[in-house]
Amino acid sequence: MMNQRRADGSLRHLITLESLGRTEVETLLDRSQHYVRPLGAMPPSNRTLAGRTIGNLFTEPSTRTRVSFEVAGRRLGAEVINLEVQLSSRAKGESMLDTIHTLEALHFDVFVIRDSEPGVVAHVANHVAPHVSVLSAGEAHLSHPTQGLLDALTVRQCKGDRFERLCVAIVGDIRHSRVARSAYEVFTALGVGELRLIAPRGLMPEPGEFPAGRRFSTPEAGLPDADVVMMLRIQKERMAQADIPDGDEYFARYGLTVPRLRLARSDAIVMHPQPMNRGIEIASEVADGAQSVIRQQVRNGVAVRMAVLAEVARPRPLARPAGT
Ligand code: CP
Repeated sequence: MMNQRRADGSLRHLITLESLGRTEVETLLDRSQHYVRPLGAMPPSNRTLAGRTIGNLFTEPSTRTRVSFEVAGRRLGAEVINLEVQLSSRAKGESMLDTIHTLEALHFDVFVIRDSEPGVVAHVANHVAPHVSVLSAGEAHLSHPTQGLLDALTVRQCKGDRFERLCVAIVGDIRHSRVARSAYEVFTALGVGELRLIAPRGLMPEPGEFPAGRRFSTPEAGLPDADVVMMLRIQKERMAQADIPDGDEYFARYGLTVPRLRLARSDAIVMHPQPMNRGIEIASEVADGAQSVIRQQVRNGVAVRMAVLAEVARPRPLARPAGT
């Protein structure tokens, strides 16, 4: 596993939540909560990252993660550059590391990377200069650590911090989902009472994965008594040939409808990382209904990314100009 830490144990990179313990997760959630404001209120801003430059390198599409990392960096006083990968020299065949070393020479301090290829984010983290941090914004089907943290923050805001009392049901395309893997890691670290995986066979992860998760083949079997219902997007882009029903049939068997949601606890919350396929994995009445916290998840994304950026980018002493 990639070492994400400095010699003193502090977090330098964030590639995965796998190695984070409960106290460390709780501290990150506390710091994230510090940056949450009600909609309409003045957002928090400070100069924690003044003088720092953050590069967003996304080789897969993104709305929420890219924009919220950008907003988070700016609210901490950093300069944030979004690299249009299609317009950069990577499109001419330049390697990721050559691009990164070029940006390092331009005094970039943090790289936020989304990539469809497993291992690219850790590979970059292994090759950057010691003062540089690398954050995953989503790695293949493996990991989306800031999404996991914002999901945990949302659950904590709605249900309190006694995770051992909670039943979390993850429903849908778990097999291809980095969101599900990071959710599993963060909820396990927080000691969640029960974690259920609900999916058709073709979308269930391999048997050795999610070892603490209880598996159910239908929502009717898996949703009763759930406190949290986390819906996942069907990820056609990561499926070669999955044995799954088509859109209408999938919605009929697995889509979260109002009657199906009634199987869970009456105060259950509904989550979805977005983008959503309305009418395939979730009905609009549920996505926009009173139990949905989907927009709260998005709002929390900025707060979590502010906390993570502030954590990894430590203050540095002023250096004399090179060559003097
Ligand atoms: N939840 C999420 O990662 O959304 P984006 O793909 O829009 O960043």
